[in-house]
Amino acid sequence: MSKTVLVIGGGGREHAIVDALSRSPQVGKIYCAPGNAGIGAQASNVPLKDTDVEGLKAFALDNKVDLTVVGPEAALAAGIVDSFRAAGLRIFGHTQAATAIESSKEFAKKLMDKYGIPTAAYRSFTSFEEALDYVSCRPFPAVLKYDGLAAGKGVVIAADLEEARQALSDMLLDHSFGAGKVVIEDYLTGPEFSFLCFVDGDRVYPMPLSQDHKRAFDGDKGPNTGGMGAYTGLPFITDQDRLFAYTQIMCKAASAMAAEGLPLSGVLYGGLMKTPQGIKVIEFNARFGDPETEVVLPLLESDIYSIFEGVATGTPVATPEWKDEVTMGVVLASKGYPGHYQKGFSIEGLDKVDAQVYHMGTALSEGRYLTNGGRVLMVVGSGPGLAQASKKVYEQVRKIECDNLFYRNDIAHIGLLWDK
Ligand code: AMP
Ligand code: GLY
Repeated sequence: MSKTVLVIGGGGREHAIVDALSRSPQVGKIYCAPGNAGIGAQASNVPLKDTDVEGLKAFALDNKVDLTVVGPEAALAAGIVDSFRAAGLRIFGHTQAATAIESSKEFAKKLMDKYGIPTAAYRSFTSFEEALDYVSCRPFPAVLKYDGLAAGKGVVIAADLEEARQALSDMLLDHSFGAGKVVIEDYLTGPEFSFLCFVDGDRVYPMPLSQDHKRAFDGDKGPNTGGMGAYTGLPFITDQDRLFAYTQIMCKAASAMAAEGLPLSGVLYGGLMKTPQGIKVIEFNARFGDPETEVVLPLLESDIYSIFEGVATGTPVATPEWKDEVTMGVVLASKGYPGHYQKGFSIEGLDKVDAQVYHMGTALSEGRYLTNGGRVLMVVGSGPGLAQASKKVYEQVRKIECDNLFYRNDIAHIGLLWDK
């Protein structure tokens, strides 16, 4: 009998998850809460917030949902997995306690120290004075991280003591993100990349590596964003690097969590850096990355429903198979993003685009798509190499007409250095 699935979330990541599920021969009905206009073309949107745990649980029970898949960390941190499991519902995602690997920087750092997982040296503080004393004796730049979920804004790379003082004052005196600790860690250098794995206890199924582009403008300039594009097929990561990252970081972290009595049961995302001293962890996330998911999942050949179900029920699954291609994707964002921006601009030309388009923030009005968020669309294409994939994607991106969108012209620029 075909399965009914509920996906929680409403961005490009969830669109890519819905799209992958729609390729599964086992899946019949797909719901997405809250979804977005583009997702609505492939699933039934449900007007419930991702953190409305009680509402979502009632919906899943009423609609005989066979499996729920959680996108955003906020839903995990709100305890959706614990609550669904207690009601006998199948759900793919980590428990609230295990989500600490993302929601608490200090928890993650302690775990890495205890289990010998390579990461930058650190200390954590609650006292402004002690933190300032410590940072004033350390080399700059210094990395200051608020110890909690801060919507991607809790990390400050302070160039000098004055910047560090300001950031510490915001975090520890003014409690800009709430009362909490600050982790101060050594500044590392090297290319960053994302390693997403499906994890069920100590079973770790790796996905293709990808790289995000956090800065708003070409040349990695401008403010940090949620991600302006991504690609797979990273030529600067060798097979040996990947093996090291898999065995010494991702598998070790999964076993460490199991040993701590907090087994993982969803996606573990390693935000890693290839430093001159080897590969190190910058952060762990307890969920699919966005926009990484939009370039990774199109490569999956196996049935994603079987993987989600296996992880959700603690049953081994066949090793996932991936296409031998590379993908790249360009985000179209509202002008002004990540700062103030306007919504409601009409988007034309989508019907001419011959590539996968994931909607990140759109609304539908009288049959037309309108901009409805900071990041609006992501166009994803594939090819045998990055140069072909990039050419194809930018050709398609240029077909989209909208008065209020911008995008980067250099997605995959590091990877393309190898592929001319
Ligand atoms: P996080 O939220 O921990 O991923 O940090 C956000 C961004 O800050 C990362 O993607 C890095 O670019 C940068 N960053 C974080 N920690 C470090 C570090 N120890 N050294 C250098 N850059 C860092
Ligand atoms: N791509 C960054 C993130 O998902 O956190």
